[in-house]
Amino acid sequence: MTTRRAPAPQLRIGLAGFGTVGQSLARLLLEEGPRIEELHGVKLSLAAVANRGVARKRQPWVPPGVRWLEDPLALATDPGVDVVVELMGGLEPAGTLVLGALSSGRSVVTANKLLLARRGEEIARAAREGRAALGIEAAVAGGIPVLRALRESFTGDRLLGVTGILNGTCNFVLTEMERTGRAFGEVLAEAQALGYAEADPTSDVSGQDAAYKLALLSRMAFAQAVPVEAVRVEGIDRLLPCDFVYAAQLHRTPRQLGLSRLLPSGRLLLSVRTHMVAVTSILAKVAGPFNAVQLTGEHGGDFVLYGRGAGGAPTATAVLADLVAVARGGAATAPPLGFEAFAPFAAAGPEESVAPFYLRFVVRDRPGILAEICRCLAAHGINIEAVWQAPWADKDALPFVVTLEPVAEAELSRALSEIAALGFHAAEPLALPMTP
Ligand SMILES: NC(=O)c1ccc[n+]([C@@H]2O[C@H](COP(=O)([O-])OP(=O)(O)OC[C@H]3O[C@@H](n4cnc5c(N)ncnc54)[C@H](OP(=O)(O)O)[C@@H]3O)[C@@H](O)[C@H]2O)c1
Repeated sequence: MTTRRAPAPQLRIGLAGFGTVGQSLARLLLEEGPRIEELHGVKLSLAAVANRGVARKRQPWVPPGVRWLEDPLALATDPGVDVVVELMGGLEPAGTLVLGALSSGRSVVTANKLLLARRGEEIARAAREGRAALGIEAAVAGGIPVLRALRESFTGDRLLGVTGILNGTCNFVLTEMERTGRAFGEVLAEAQALGYAEADPTSDVSGQDAAYKLALLSRMAFAQAVPVEAVRVEGIDRLLPCDFVYAAQLHRTPRQLGLSRLLPSGRLLLSVRTHMVAVTSILAKVAGPFNAVQLTGEHGGDFVLYGRGAGGAPTATAVLADLVAVARGGAATAPPLGFEAFAPFAAAGPEESVAPFYLRFVVRDRPGILAEICRCLAAHGINIEAVWQAPWADKDALPFVVTLEPVAEAELSRALSEIAALGFHAAEPLALPMTP
């Protein structure tokens, strides 16, 4: 007797946004669709593609049965679509599309960190009410399955911290500045030429892009309604080649880290900024455009997920994995953001942020400068660990470094604003936390 397999359930995909990730997803569906059907028993088919100016987007390799639409919002109620994949980015029309699709009972997969960081709870509620599935894996760290890990694999531990290299552009720029000794602007231009940085890199370089991701990660790690605005953001654009010289002397390396800490008070400390990371740390080994996320649990200790945090193909694999999950389980999965409800956000104040610091000054050299800085620090009860001054040719722009014992950042800020008012600076003083 022969047993006949039931036909694989089919999921008809409506894809909104045929750009970098959208096109990679369409190619991946063609390449991997047969294997997924064979191994996972689900048939994923691209039914429609929507994009503004759609005529210029048509590609000969897309199967002829795929419908091309101008209006992405039409996908929300399209009777030939079971799941909407939103890969346009931005708040609108993505928000209207996602909410419209979910409220009409269609599942949604999106990579839109901005939308999820701003309206994630509303979107998760719409999924629950529409009894639809919501896949969001690609929204943070591209191909790295960190949101699924937070939602499903870390429920057995009480998370205390999330630390991530969440922006590949910044990591590329910092590691290239370190490797080549070149200035920020020059390396950023190279990153743009290589396609690692956007034509307008402001969101990456300022830390804002990483802040969206950190807000989302923090919600899912700590079940608090973390607003994006709660993340303290500092860009990487103030680092100078001399900072990499001093970092090497200190056995450290500058890394932009998104950092979220649950303090014993229950309050959260959130920042995206450059840290001087010890070269022995795992995060110091993350070079070029790669991402890594370190999750710290009270019982399990540290876990690090590492990989390609951006790019069409890696990001599309996360979208495709979400589609397989939707096809397998529909809405019967864990809540998309990990929890059904979130506690109000409790923000830690700057007095609760305590760390050893790296202070870099660039001064027009004259006798007594160090004494003035030390006097100011001492007046605020701040302990100096060491003073570092490498030989430097330009006495009108002489860089030197003071490292500090752990200090409350609120106190340090007060001292630094007094120091910044002194007349000898050739560049604004830079303060970076030093991280193990
Ligand atoms: N690229 C990555 O490495 C990466 C990684 C992780 C997550 N993501 C996320 O994935 C999403 C897509 O990113 P991407 O890099 O693929 O962006 P992209 O290359 O700019 O593609 C976006 C596509 O959506 C279309 N689009 C934008 N606004 C539209 C509108 N109002 N109506 C119709 N079509 C519209 C664009 O059309 P035009 O051609 O007219 O601009 C473009 O084809 C974003 O949410 C992004 O944050 C991207």
